Amino acid sequence: MEAILLVGGQGTRLRPLTISTPKPLLPTAGVPFLAHQLARARDAGVERIVFATSYRAEMFEAAFGTRAQGVDLAYVSEARPLGTGGAIRNAAAALRCGADEPVLILNGDILSGHDVPAQVALHEKSGADVTLHLTEVDDPSRFGCVPTDADGRVTAFLEKTSRPVTNQINAGCYVFRRSAIDTIRKDEVVSVERETFPSLISSGRVVMGHVESAYWLDVGTPQAFVRGSCDLVLGRLASSAMPGEPGDRLTLNGAVVSPGAVVRGGTTVGRGAVVEAGATVLGSVLLDDSFVAEGATVRDSVLSRGARVGPGAILDGVILGDAAVVGPGNELRDGLRVWPGIELPATAVRFSTDA
Ligand code: GTP
Repeated sequence: MEAILLVGGQGTRLRPLTISTPKPLLPTAGVPFLAHQLARARDAGVERIVFATSYRAEMFEAAFGTRAQGVDLAYVSEARPLGTGGAIRNAAAALRCGADEPVLILNGDILSGHDVPAQVALHEKSGADVTLHLTEVDDPSRFGCVPTDADGRVTAFLEKTSRPVTNQINAGCYVFRRSAIDTIRKDEVVSVERETFPSLISSGRVVMGHVESAYWLDVGTPQAFVRGSCDLVLGRLASSAMPGEPGDRLTLNGAVVSPGAVVRGGTTVGRGAVVEAGATVLGSVLLDDSFVAEGATVRDSVLSRGARVGPGAILDGVILGDAAVVGPGNELRDGLRVWPGIELPATAVRFSTDA
């Protein structure tokens, strides 16, 4: 089976991490995020993947070449971003399969443990034009929701509402009949979510929902990105692309963790990164050459390449850009983002709970 992987977005919600590296290439549990997706696609029977690229397109081929994780790879870049639907239409020019064959479409920022072969089997058995993976969430009001009838056929594709009619949401993994891709307008900006799916449904085409609530996470926000990396390290989602066994932490070659430091909760410590004695790092991502000094505490945070945390500093839910420096005694919390190269002097920022 062939697949199209959508990787052309700018990843604005993950800035400043995505200034230098597109979201799908961010190191996640020790390897580029996409390595986990490629491994899972291969395990599901995918033999060839077309990358639909746009933002920093050249970095994908440089990272993966023509074959990775046992899958053949091709690249199709958009001169201007065409949106999710336009990107699928554009990339389909590089597919080799026949008109009736199934093509798997994957968002490049989803970690999912669902049963892809079961989704494809439903697609084939029902003779559908498109079969969507739908997952169930506790609070569907934050998402568009996707109701299905008793036979599993999708009846509508609804925008976000405070009164959702179902807790089923679009999980960002689709099987298209190859010929159904040609219903998308060519060389135009098109959203599959807002245009293609609603128009297929209203024109009577068969759109099926494969409802399965296995592990599922959209890593598009900083908190979710950290969560996804830690879940992979902890083994909550199995990935054969992970460079090591699941456990409390993943320490890459060349990292130095002092025996007097506490590092756990699924933290990854990158190559050349250092955690000194007396430091505590919980549920975080420390990228290559980052540094956590003695007595510092880092929790639910990302330290980009070469970022440094000074003695006694506290970071909780924070993103440090490349080579950002947090001087001794600072206390940063609650989604704060420090841009690349910025240096905070000692005790410049304190978190206060005073009224
Ligand atoms: P935000 O800017 O933070 O919303 O992230 P994003 O740009 O990745 O957008 P979003 O999360 O909605 O995108 C879902 C998937 O589609 C991601 O894998 C994106 O890389 C991809 N994508 C979004 N827009 C385009 C596009 O215009 N072209 C291509 N090729 N892929 C896209």
